[in-house]
Amino acid sequence: MKQDKRICLITYGCQMNEYDTEIVRSILSAAGYVFTQDDLEADIIMLNTCSVRENAHRKVYGHIHDFRHRRQGKPVLIGILGCMATGLRQELIENKHLALDFVVGPDSYKRLPAILAQIGSPAGAASEEGKHPGYDVTLSEFETYADVYPARAEGVNAWVAVMRGCNNFCSFCIVPHARGRERSRPAGNIIDEVRRLADEGFKQVTLLGQNVNSYRHEGVDFARLLEQVSTVKGIERIRFTSPHPKDFPQDLIHVLATNPKVCKQVHLPLQAGNDRVLELMRRHYSGREFLDLVCKLRKACPTLALSTDIIVGFPTETDVEFEDTFELVKTARFDSAFIFKYSPRPRTEAALKLKDDVPEAKKTERIVRLNKLQADISLEKNKELVGLVHPVLVESSGKTKGGAAYGRNDANKIVNFAHAALKAGDMVNVRITRATPHQLKGEFLNFIEVLAPLG
Ligand code: 5AD
Ligand code: SF4
Repeated sequence: MKQDKRICLITYGCQMNEYDTEIVRSILSAAGYVFTQDDLEADIIMLNTCSVRENAHRKVYGHIHDFRHRRQGKPVLIGILGCMATGLRQELIENKHLALDFVVGPDSYKRLPAILAQIGSPAGAASEEGKHPGYDVTLSEFETYADVYPARAEGVNAWVAVMRGCNNFCSFCIVPHARGRERSRPAGNIIDEVRRLADEGFKQVTLLGQNVNSYRHEGVDFARLLEQVSTVKGIERIRFTSPHPKDFPQDLIHVLATNPKVCKQVHLPLQAGNDRVLELMRRHYSGREFLDLVCKLRKACPTLALSTDIIVGFPTETDVEFEDTFELVKTARFDSAFIFKYSPRPRTEAALKLKDDVPEAKKTERIVRLNKLQADISLEKNKELVGLVHPVLVESSGKTKGGAAYGRNDANKIVNFAHAALKAGDMVNVRITRATPHQLKGEFLNFIEVLAPLG
């Protein structure tokens, strides 16, 4: 099985892509490949890509040109994995400058060893759909990689994909086109993986899915799945991302509020605050319904930290309609927000039916205003925490830089503090002493004893 072929695998985009990189590493390590960080010494360069927003693929194209230039003719196979492979397949075939050797979509990673063996040496020519052996962008209704144990880097958090794909077809979003239909993994298989992670020393798991709260497998829904995961000894914290606001029933709110291992933190994408725009986006809720959900969540769980995603400049969004988003952000008082300018993505409903008619300068004006508003709110909310004592799961040990350590509180906020004798995975109490919009500073108080796993 020994290959002595070296792969440099670079990941772009979201946590699901980070997770898929771990799946790919596991599959290719088993096939005898070794991995290197250095693209210059690699025989194969793989880019695990994202196509959710427009600038993501520009970055990837730039890197490919850069790799070729730096290698000055030294042979290498270069290929693309992930969402760009399926989401932008036509563009990749037609772009002769990229001269890709392989293009493999997110449901075809088990075929990678066969594909790499087949293409063997640098092809030097662009792939053609259906003809080139390096080209596989088939999407599956069943593939969940339930039988592949990801090759994870060490750390305190492990990502665990519980479902893949999405059936929602929000009109701006390429994910259903790039990652295919929704499918969930068997709960028992997920629990087995989480047990193994606990045995390996991981303290936190983050359950992943494009629409994670629509998880359902043989009668087990997402609320039940969270409960089952929380029974695994050794796992102290459970997070999940990203849920859709339309799939948040009362019993899920109850589990979130009452289960001590489920972190009091939710990333709840809003996208827009105006009802006409939300309808055009096919989000299936109104601004009022979103706020009602926020109220219900906060009532059940007063310390809840909420973050969100927002798109500005969706086609036809007027100034007045943007003000609805602005006002909703003021009312909802998110802890943080990721705000994006709309960009049309191939094959999406919005790209096919609506003209991208909000001028770039308007998009910029809206994103700047919203970012400023959110930074003010984030700072105010973080300042409210000064003086409080928070349990922090340590991520960096503090052995360097004069004992500068950091970890995250339950709300997923980074807390910086000093302590020279910590290790990643320790749980400690920290008193919050200072706040910025994006981080907290604190002083170490004491270690929190965590009961050892009971075998
Ligand atoms: N344009 C801008 N932002 C987008 N997102 C998804 N598609 C687009 C697009 N076409 C944003 C959404 C989503 C996040 C992951 O990326 O806010 O929640
Ligand atoms: Fe995209 Fe909407 Fe699915 Fe999220 S829920 S992945 S935004 S289609």
